[in-house]
Amino acid sequence: MSKGEIVAGYLAPHPPHLVYGENPEQNEARSQGGWEQLRWAYERARASLEELKPDVLLVHSPHWITQQGHHFLGVKDLSGKSVDPIFPNLFRYNFELEVDVELAEACCANGAEMGLTTKMMRNPNFRVDYGTITTLHMIRPQWDIPVVGISANNSPYYLSTKEGLEEMDVLGKATRKAIEDSGRRAVLLASNTLCHYHFSVEPVPPEDMAQEHPENYAGYLWDMRMIELLRQGKISEVFELLPQFIDEAFAEVKSGAFTWMFSAMEYPELAGELHGYGTVIGTGNAVMEWNLIKAGLAKAA
Ligand SMILES: [Fe+2]
Repeated sequence: MSKGEIVAGYLAPHPPHLVYGENPEQNEARSQGGWEQLRWAYERARASLEELKPDVLLVHSPHWITQQGHHFLGVKDLSGKSVDPIFPNLFRYNFELEVDVELAEACCANGAEMGLTTKMMRNPNFRVDYGTITTLHMIRPQWDIPVVGISANNSPYYLSTKEGLEEMDVLGKATRKAIEDSGRRAVLLASNTLCHYHFSVEPVPPEDMAQEHPENYAGYLWDMRMIELLRQGKISEVFELLPQFIDEAFAEVKSGAFTWMFSAMEYPELAGELHGYGTVIGTGNAVMEWNLIKAGLAKAA
């Protein structure tokens, strides 16, 4: 078996509004569209993912919160209805997915070996959270690639940001080693919004784009600053600024996916490709790609 590798990482945020705007058959709610800039961004990301031909998609979601340790989906076939508790009017999605249990178990075991508390999720009736489902639907609506789902341990919130993100860094290293040993070609998905200040009242209808704009100007400026650095490949500068960004823009990257992904990729000083930016109920969302094949850091299929 040849050595596995990470072929790309995506910043792939999960506002359920994007699924609602697209009207796939799996979602019960119907819309007249909306949030097109972000949905077009995901169309670009879908096309690049198609070319990468990965064996597995790994996603770390802020909305599968586990207070004790880092958990991994551990049931091969999962199906059910995923509902967003904040926006049940927009997102009631009938999902069916296949888990790469072998790779998940390797990530879990490596994490434990490196000092993390980890656990496999073995409940066959588990309702997969809307963050995981939205990110996976938006990047690969065909649902034909097995996945590894990773929970967001709440450590950045009940410890400090620094301590919590140090754990996510270890989780990334554990993930990388598991992928290398597996022989798989893997894509990482960091399911994170940037600035997370949001409106507390929804327009009628929710897809009225005349009402959609950044909730917070300072947060918007932060998003632009971080995106520019990411586009320039100034990754170490991004990570130096990350705690301040998190504090001042209430950024969802605090929950760890972004750090996990970059740690797994070994923090390459590599220019990210911005597929698009847009706000959702005022929050800032960027779809970005770090293609390690194009950069010469991974082999083509
Ligand atoms: Fe979220």
